[in-house]
Order: sequence, then structure tokens, then C-alpha cells
Amino acid sequence: MKIGILGAGSVGKALAKGWLDAGHSVKISSRDPMSESLFTWKEQMGPDCQIATFEESAAFGEVIVLAINWSGVESVLKQTGQQALQHKVIIDLSNAVEFSETPQLALKNISAGEMIQQWLPESRVVKTLNMVGSATMVNPSFSQGTPVMFLCGNDAEAKVTVQELLHAIGWRDVIDLGDITRSALLESLMLTCLISEIRQQEFGSAFALLRK
Ligand SMILES: NC(=O)c1ccc[n+]([C@@H]2O[C@H](COP(=O)([O-])OP(=O)(O)OC[C@H]3O[C@@H](n4cnc5c(N)ncnc54)[C@H](OP(=O)(O)O)[C@@H]3O)[C@@H](O)[C@H]2O)c1
Repeated sequence: MKIGILGAGSVGKALAKGWLDAGHSVKISSRDPMSESLFTWKEQMGPDCQIATFEESAAFGEVIVLAINWSGVESVLKQTGQQALQHKVIIDLSNAVEFSETPQLALKNISAGEMIQQWLPESRVVKTLNMVGSATMVNPSFSQGTPVMFLCGNDAEAKVTVQELLHAIGWRDVIDLGDITRSALLESLMLTCLISEIRQQEFGSAFALLRK
């Protein structure tokens, strides 16, 4: 599958490597696609990895991954344009977080996932992976059990596609929570995980669902 990744931070790069290793093609983008460090990283990824502008990545991908810092999401989506993303599956990992005394959600009456679906009404937004750190996103391995990954979105077919992509990077237990309004739950779950990690000073955790 052709995957366009908007954003080349730790998340964009980790997912690019995961899906490249699983045999997919990736076009990853940044505000500065000519940067030397990005080029050096791309050289290690092999021929199925390309670097591009946000517009080129958006045009390339059958599936688009939004791995942009929240402060830049709206402007990047404006730059790529709704039409380039029309009907496409958009994997949204955004967390709108304010770091004051303790981290808190920056959006009060709406989640980031819902906002992105509103900005891209003709696209099929699926929220997932936002509640784990970038180092845990690919081939998660825990001695205590099998971690669970949740997803949500309005389009059933898009969620099947994303579920397959999650399986490809090692998420065996994937649970569909329903429509995009459930992204509020996933963003709160991220905050729960983050605050718990900060209080325990232990990082890299994930959730598991224990069943009898
Ligand atoms: N880091 C994690 O462990 C983690 C875990 C779960 C979810 N998330 C979420 O995943 C997303 C990506 O996380 P990240 O840590 O990889 O983010 P990041 O390193 O802060 O940024 C990722 C990308 O966002 C672009 N960007 C930043 N500010 C921008 C702006 N004002 N306008 C346009 N582009 C901008 C950067 O462009 P340049 O390349 O040009 O700098 C970079 O490519 C975020 O929404 C984050 O909340 C992160």
C-alpha cells in the first residue's frame, strides 16, 4: 500500500520504518524536506522510502498519516487542501496537550479527532495510536501481556484498512470503539497514560484488556 506520512518527527519516522519493514511504500513529509538529517535517515530506510513536501505526500498516499504537532495541523491541512485528501483514509494520532503544572487537554468541548473530521468532511478519519509513545508504536512487546490498541472513526471500511495496517506493525489486539466522537475517549486515555507515567516516572507503557 502507498502511505503518505505528513510529519517527520519521532512518530512519522517510527511508523514509516514499521510500514516499510512490512513491505509498504512510504512518502514522508516535513516543512523542510531537503534537510540533511532527514536525507540521512531516508538513506537508511531503503528505496521504498521517499521524502516530499506535504502536498506530494498527500497526493501519493492511499492512506494518509497525520503525524504533525497539533500547533501545525490546521495549517498543514490547509496547505495540502481538502481535495487532495478527499475520500482518503486519514490516520489521526494528534494529541492537543497543554503543558502547565500538569498536562491537560487543550481542547475543551471537542476532540482533536472530531475537529480533523470537521476540517476534512470528505475524508475518512480514523483515530488510533495516539495513546502510546512513538517508541512503543511499532512491534510493541511487553512481558506482562498483549497490549491493546483502540481505534474509532465513522467509516467501517476505513477502519478495516487501518486495522490491517496496525496488525502489520505488531498490534494483535485491536478494538473498534465506534464513531469519531469516541476520539475524545482516546485522547483522555492518552492523558491518563501520560499522567500515570509522569507520576510513576516510568515511560513506554500501553494499555491491555484483561479478559476472563
Ligand atoms: N511523540 C510521541 O510519542 C507521540 C505519541 C502519540 C501521539 N503523538 C502525536 O503525534 C503527532 C506527532 O508527534 P511528534 O512527536 O512526531 O511531533 P513533532 O516532532 O513535534 O512534530 C512532527 C511534525 O510536525 C511538524 N510541525 C511542527 N510544528 C508545525 C507547524 N507549526 N506547522 C507545520 N508543521 C509543523 C514538524 O515539521 P518539521 O519536520 O518541519 O519540523 C514535524 O514534521 C502529534 O500530534 C503528537 O501529539 C506523539
